[in-house]
Amino acid sequence: MAKTGITLTRRGLGAMLAVGLLAGGLAGCGNSDTGGDSDSGSSGGNSKLVIGFSQVGAESGWRTANTNSIKEAATTAGYELKFDDAQGKQENQIKAIRNFIQQKVDVIAFSPVVESGWDTVLKEAKDAKIPVILTDRAVDSADKSLYKTFIGSDFVKEGKLAGEWLVKEKSAATGPVNIVELQGTTGAAPANDRKKGFAEAIAANPNLKVVASQSGDFTRAGGKQVMEQFLRANPKIDVLFAHNDDMGLGALEAITAAGKTPGKDITIITVDAVKDGMQALADGKFNFIAECSPLLGPQLMDLAKKVKAGEEVPARVETEETTFTQEQAKTALPNRKY
Ligand code: AHR
Repeated sequence: MAKTGITLTRRGLGAMLAVGLLAGGLAGCGNSDTGGDSDSGSSGGNSKLVIGFSQVGAESGWRTANTNSIKEAATTAGYELKFDDAQGKQENQIKAIRNFIQQKVDVIAFSPVVESGWDTVLKEAKDAKIPVILTDRAVDSADKSLYKTFIGSDFVKEGKLAGEWLVKEKSAATGPVNIVELQGTTGAAPANDRKKGFAEAIAANPNLKVVASQSGDFTRAGGKQVMEQFLRANPKIDVLFAHNDDMGLGALEAITAAGKTPGKDITIITVDAVKDGMQALADGKFNFIAECSPLLGPQLMDLAKKVKAGEEVPARVETEETTFTQEQAKTALPNRKY
């Protein structure tokens, strides 16, 4: 192995660690990385737009695709992105936003882990005159002036589309159809809204009953573990509604291990339409997917530029989406980007 030629004394090493820790502390408490010049933006006198972005974490295939879309779009636009991974914790996102305020970034964007508890930090950003853009998920703040715009999907609609498909699919049922539901992260907008939309839609058919509903935290491991519990506690499960593909994919393992055939013994409906989910649908293991697009990067960059320039932007920018049956998944899969 090549030698670096650097010899460190204990004291020298201690000093380096102290500097490193200080820098790490300033960067926020999740995993941060910064593309481009670290001293550019408003504070550094460089004209490059500087965006501070706090991401939920890396819980799902959807989230990875969303992170990639945002990073790629920032590079393409020539903006500096200060990216922070909150590792699923609201307190990390609040710290990251405070660090972005200290660093005087031009625009703050974030995808809130949960809906509630943002007013104080958003007020701090507003007082510092830094515009905020919500991406992917909403907050429940009554004061809409705390952010400039919200770009993302209509999660209630996604739940509704899933429920409407099921109502049609089971229209001939003469007895009870038992549904289990894998909810997303507790308190997150997509978990609250998909549950609501689905419940509203299935109310059209009194045979459809949700017999168990629990959070699998949007992860494969969570989906598998909670599905195992559902299977142990419920002798007759006809349908699984999973709030995302990853939980559905985890549940597939539990269903197979229980000696049942996914897609046949248990009808499976999910949300997202990431590649692995689409593959499961094309293979007949899933039955229906309501799409949720993670490709928000280019629109986010466009909105960031506009809010920084003081231009009017719509208060809500809704993502265009569709749904997939097994046949449609087979056609769409070869061109699926994520
Ligand atoms: O907020 C979007 C949701 O978060 C996606 O549907 C899910 O996969 C992700 O974790």
